[in-house]
Amino acid sequence: MKKVSTSKGSYYLALRHITKVANSSLGLRKTFNSIAKSTAKAVRANGCCIFLLDSKKEYLITVGACGLSDIYLRKGPLDAHKSLPEILDGQVAFVPDAGKDERIQHPQIAEEQRVHSILGVPIFDNGETIGEIRVYTREPRQFSEADKNFLSSIADVSAVLMERAELHQLLTRRYKASEKKAKSAQAPQAPTTSLRPVEFAHPSEEEFAKLLDFYCIEWLYEPRSFPLRWKDNAIVEMFTPDFYLPGLNLYVELTTLKQNLITEKNRKLRQLKELYPEVNIKLLAKNDFAKLLAKYGYGPQGKAKVEGVKRILYTHSQIQRRVRTLARRISHDYAGQRLVLVGILKGVVCFMTDLMQHLSLPVIIDFMAISYYSGDDDQVVKITKDLDSSITEQHVLMVEDIIDTGMTLNYVLAHLSAQKPASLRVCTLLDKRVRRLADISLDYIGFEIPDEFVVGYGLDYKGEYRNLPFIGILHPELVEESKAQ
Ligand code: IMP
Ligand code: MG
Repeated sequence: MKKVSTSKGSYYLALRHITKVANSSLGLRKTFNSIAKSTAKAVRANGCCIFLLDSKKEYLITVGACGLSDIYLRKGPLDAHKSLPEILDGQVAFVPDAGKDERIQHPQIAEEQRVHSILGVPIFDNGETIGEIRVYTREPRQFSEADKNFLSSIADVSAVLMERAELHQLLTRRYKASEKKAKSAQAPQAPTTSLRPVEFAHPSEEEFAKLLDFYCIEWLYEPRSFPLRWKDNAIVEMFTPDFYLPGLNLYVELTTLKQNLITEKNRKLRQLKELYPEVNIKLLAKNDFAKLLAKYGYGPQGKAKVEGVKRILYTHSQIQRRVRTLARRISHDYAGQRLVLVGILKGVVCFMTDLMQHLSLPVIIDFMAISYYSGDDDQVVKITKDLDSSITEQHVLMVEDIIDTGMTLNYVLAHLSAQKPASLRVCTLLDKRVRRLADISLDYIGFEIPDEFVVGYGLDYKGEYRNLPFIGILHPELVEESKAQ
């Protein structure tokens, strides 16, 4: 194994450069890329990567890198507990041969991409690991104490930068909040995900990240590239989905392209599914995404003027029949037990009142209310009204009006199961399954509906239409406009 001598002079020059960059007005991503480059050069390594830990301290997010191939950088979500886990505990990690090391998550890719030796150090903030710096060499290599010390100094500079960036974000947030004279006295708990120095390729990606942040859904931006085609052992085609949502084990690709280009993307997606059948991926096309935002009265379609109901999807008597059938099944399944029905205000009011009247069980009802996404980046979903009584050791049935992406339910179910109910099931009147992102198992479903915005029987658009006795499809102007595009 090679011992490479690095001179104090090269450390000094690198430090001078790094501190200068750290104090410049460059964006965070560029700053960290530049630090990675100087660091690799100073320790005579071939590559360097600077990582930040996600808010749950599970995944490593690349914030700066140099000298590493795209394939290596996007080899998949990097689990901080599996990849050199000792760094999480505050130790320095040395890997003599990455292709043969258990602490390496993707040894084969390391070997193929000619990553041989690795040195990694933690980035500390108040004694806690918040990130890592790693350097990589193509040849077998040993690192000196001086190399380790140098890397730790760079980690300290990085910690200051991360801290400062956060401070900056918090300050802007507070400024915005005070401008709005925030209604609630309690400051919203900001998801740390929004503090990441990610450079999004498209504004819709940032919008999507904000929506995920709101629902506290962890995300990683472009963590993995999937090779799709090879020629003479070299990769000639790859596909890099925009997001990975570790909690849902789901890749999401947003596309704002024209229909003909989507066809090409669909082809790649089909190929990806064939080659990697274990991978769960969803394509969210421009219109789907606009619809998703429109639900919150936001985005291009959200500004549409609403003309009224296009057509009736379910009449009052169809709904009543279905509700009675659901109630019979629920009464049968819970026979001899007491049931707590939990609804989320306000959409569920009609369904809840009809359903409970047909249950032949002792029943308690309770309601929750949660805040709604408004597109502000200083927000995170909040329970604005919690349950009145404890559900611990009770049989709980969540009653929902409609499940769309499933993000609301995903959040609420996590909240409810933390209270350890005896059982927890879900009953929804409407299931817009085609749009599901969070795959939640539903126990009772009234109707599976197509991807249309529906109103009536409790469901609203911007607060209106709840009082209609039937369920109808809304007729927003922009649906027509987007078809004409
Ligand atoms: P999710 O979090 O995307 O599953 O959204 C669920 C919530 O969005 C529902 O409880 C409704 O409040 C609202 N929602 C979703 N789709 C519709 C719709 O078509 N009409 C009215 N409200 C909807
Ligand atoms: Mg609802």
